[in-house]
Amino acid sequence: MESKFLFFFVISSFPFLSSFTQAYDFPLPPLAKGLSWTFYSSSCPNLEIIVRNRLFNAFKTDIGLAAGLVRIHFHDCFVQGCEGSVLLDGTPSAPGEQKALPNQTLRPRAIQLIEEIRSEVERSCGRVVSCSDIATLAARDSVLLKKKIESNIFHPDNQSGGLYYPVPLGRRDGLTYATEQTVLNNLPSPFSNVTTLITSFASKNLDVTDLVALSGAHTFGIGHCPAFTPRLYPTTDPTMDESFASRLRVTCPKTDSPNSTPLDVRTPDAFDNKYYVNLKNRQGLFTSDQGLQNDARTRGIVNQFATDQMAFFERFVVGMVKMGQLGVLTGNQGEIRRRCGVRNSVGGSLGSVVREDVKVSAV
Ligand code: HEM
Repeated sequence: MESKFLFFFVISSFPFLSSFTQAYDFPLPPLAKGLSWTFYSSSCPNLEIIVRNRLFNAFKTDIGLAAGLVRIHFHDCFVQGCEGSVLLDGTPSAPGEQKALPNQTLRPRAIQLIEEIRSEVERSCGRVVSCSDIATLAARDSVLLKKKIESNIFHPDNQSGGLYYPVPLGRRDGLTYATEQTVLNNLPSPFSNVTTLITSFASKNLDVTDLVALSGAHTFGIGHCPAFTPRLYPTTDPTMDESFASRLRVTCPKTDSPNSTPLDVRTPDAFDNKYYVNLKNRQGLFTSDQGLQNDARTRGIVNQFATDQMAFFERFVVGMVKMGQLGVLTGNQGEIRRRCGVRNSVGGSLGSVVREDVKVSAV
């Protein structure tokens, strides 16, 4: 059943968000069983303020953390669902998900920041909030605060200029983490074609518009050379703008250069719709990005988002709320971790908590 919640109704139910100035008027996805818009309103009423203030302070010294936190949320949700498994440390004999190739470029400081927020939340409310909920809120506030800091609005309680959306809460933390193979099976690669991307997203009940809208997260953050140099060497990918390719070859003189470059060449630090303008100008960084412009199934959506930033924002919000509910654990499932990197009680060897393959499905 389609949720009839409208943005401004939800927002007005949070007193500390009352200064929010944009009233979105579109339906949000249905809630997964066990999640609620007001889950911690009595057990931890200051939760969202704590998360936001902590992030705001952290972003003042490293704004790149905002992109890092959004990516962590994606990598958590696509592998075993949004249950914080990507945050778990592994052991030498049973490496955690962070050791898997696609996760090796997750930002360690962003992972640490989630634990710091958890610890501060516990001091205020006791151990009632899961790491997976904190990671989900951190992703939302990364988009919100990013816009605010761009707009030079330096007061964290001032909502103007930000992209706010309500986040269903009540996730619990998983007891297991995935093997490297499971991570690789679930996270699409930057070398993927559109058919592979559509199939990957469809396996999570995310549709083609979700794929194009969520890929718009590549409006900020960075990519390292090995993720795109196959498009430069030995010859330039014919779907890439030649002068863009020449500049990338300076950043990446070799296929495995350790350097990085912004994902969005036009407005590297802004959360806006210029990512789609890049695609129209053959300046998408990854094969998986540029393919969205070149494939008839996705091109129309790229065109729409390139010309209508508000349409992108609305569909991005819908996609994030859908993605944030993938495979959630609720009720008595899982646990509320004492530390985000460790499950509460490890019975036997850590290897026994590695789960082989788990299918996650959307609500
Ligand atoms: C559609 C399939 C996707 C592929 C193939 C993909 C692939 C990648 C790759 C290869 C990087 C660069 C990693 C590096 O070299 O450092 C990256 C960065 C990033 N991705 Fe994606 N991604 C996809 C979808 C998403 C989604 C759905 C989101 C979030 C909603 C997302 C958010 C980000 C962000 C914010 C960064 C920058 C991270 C940072 O600067 O630390 N990506 N992605």
